[in-house]
Amino acid sequence: MDTLATPQLIDRFGRKVDYLRISITDRCDFRCVYCMAEEMTFLSRAQVLTLEEIYTIAEAFAELGVKKIRITGGEPLVRKGAIELLEKIGKISTLKELVLTTNGSKLTQMSQSLKQANVKRLNISLDTLDADKFKAITRTGDLAQVLAGIDAAKAEKFERIKINAVILKNRNHAEVCDLVQFAIDKEIDISFIEEMPLGVVAGHNRAEAYYSSALIKADLEQRFALLASITKTGGPSEYFNVIGTQTRVGFISPHSANFCGTCNRVRLTVEGRLLLCLGNEHSVDLKQVIRANPGDMAYLKQVIINSMQIKPEKHEFNLNEQPVILRYMNATGG
Ligand code: GTP
Ligand code: 5AD
Ligand code: SF4
Repeated sequence: MDTLATPQLIDRFGRKVDYLRISITDRCDFRCVYCMAEEMTFLSRAQVLTLEEIYTIAEAFAELGVKKIRITGGEPLVRKGAIELLEKIGKISTLKELVLTTNGSKLTQMSQSLKQANVKRLNISLDTLDADKFKAITRTGDLAQVLAGIDAAKAEKFERIKINAVILKNRNHAEVCDLVQFAIDKEIDISFIEEMPLGVVAGHNRAEAYYSSALIKADLEQRFALLASITKTGGPSEYFNVIGTQTRVGFISPHSANFCGTCNRVRLTVEGRLLLCLGNEHSVDLKQVIRANPGDMAYLKQVIINSMQIKPEKHEFNLNEQPVILRYMNATGG
């Protein structure tokens, strides 16, 4: 047996955790209706991890066998120093992939730096191609800016770019084919996401707005030929190839297809909580650990190894009840 092999993070259900999602800010220049309340209070500087602390935790996870790190927010690119942090994480030699989820608002200015920082793939949120609807869904966003950002990202030739679209009935469900056509024209991928009940939103009733992946797929099949793909990105999407194109269509279906059995990821919130599941509150306070034991990497790693014991088996989302999880999506980055 090779005793020098990299340690691995394994939970009670035998699932190997090799994917860390890090939210580097809870702030965002948009206020998407499914993600935030209209009036939000954001965290103070003292409450959030410093960039150095985030890097230390990323390093600890890499030493524990994590191969993929996704940077999220809020909107990660609004945090000052985001690029410098990405550059540092992008240099961790054992990582296979540094990837980013963004709302696209800053990509015209920042795509080139992201590419230079060794970011491999980008996921960009885009729920509609109609400027007025875009404004209504994001409350503050500008569609033209995001579309220009997608073009800027394309010009940098990332390994893959994926659009994320959260589909809400009677809001943007009629656009699913147009969104896929947009992805085909741009030679990028797209995932459709079922809305998850995180935090209390006032603008719509989540149960009434539910539009399942099965309905979306049936709509798409009126216009496109979809072939199930064996591709796995290490995320929860189930992928299909659009025949005759470069584009893959993914479905992220937390309600209609529970993917927790193959969960390989944990999340670091910007407050330094290590969340063992998006749909549960089980967490470990890593900020407290590193602030009380500065420089003690061995202890930090041991705490992370121990945390695997409390990773829940699955999420319990119920659209018909008041959300059990009161934190908003911007605190975790999805
Ligand atoms: P890859 O990791 O590259 O496959 O990307 P991804 O699609 O998983 O990541 P992204 O940040 O683009 O997230 C897209 C959607 O997937 C978001 O709405 C996330 O909340 C959701 N998602 C990602 N991981 C999980 C998970 O473990 N559980 C649930 N319920 N949703 C998840
Ligand atoms: N349910 C599902 N997806 C959500 N996102 C934000 N809030 C929610 C929610 N309540 C999506 C964003 C982004 C991704 C990280 O998560 O649109 O694409
Ligand atoms: Fe910002 Fe993303 Fe939340 Fe929209 S979904 S408000 S872009 S963090």
